[in-house]
Amino acid sequence: MRSLLMRVPALGLILACGVAAVASDRLDEGQAAYQTYCADCHDTGKMEAPVTNKPGDWVNRSQLWDAVLFEHAEKGYLGMPPKGGADIASNYEVKAAAEYMVTITHPQMPHD
Ligand code: HEC
Repeated sequence: MRSLLMRVPALGLILACGVAAVASDRLDEGQAAYQTYCADCHDTGKMEAPVTNKPGDWVNRSQLWDAVLFEHAEKGYLGMPPKGGADIASNYEVKAAAEYMVTITHPQMPHD
């Protein structure tokens, strides 16, 4: 827990530089949900999950179609369980987490 808290400010700084245009509240919420529900697989590539902030892992995914990725995050897709297996996560949290992943992986990309 402690190391998680210590990592947050550094990440916040990166985000502030890279994606200042994005509403930061929502990104903060997405980050929190991501750490809780998604990081286990998407920080490590466990089960061959595409790693967040590693654009090469996402090249064959529908990166221009955020809506499709968000739908897959919520409903599941191949090896990806619905909501990452976190039944208790709300749809809002899952979508915010997916937005966060896509945004920090592709900061230059326009998002819908
Ligand atoms: C149990 C491990 C696991 C967890 C937890 C998990 N994922 Fe995934 N995720 C995967 C795997 C594996 C894939 C790759 C699926 C494939 O293409 O076979 C994936 C793929 C994805 C994709 C890409 C889907 C596509 O259309 O290519 C998105 C977006 C995604 N996950 C979002 C999330 C979000 C948001 C969370 C947290 C709410 C989450 N994942 C939690 C394992 C996980």
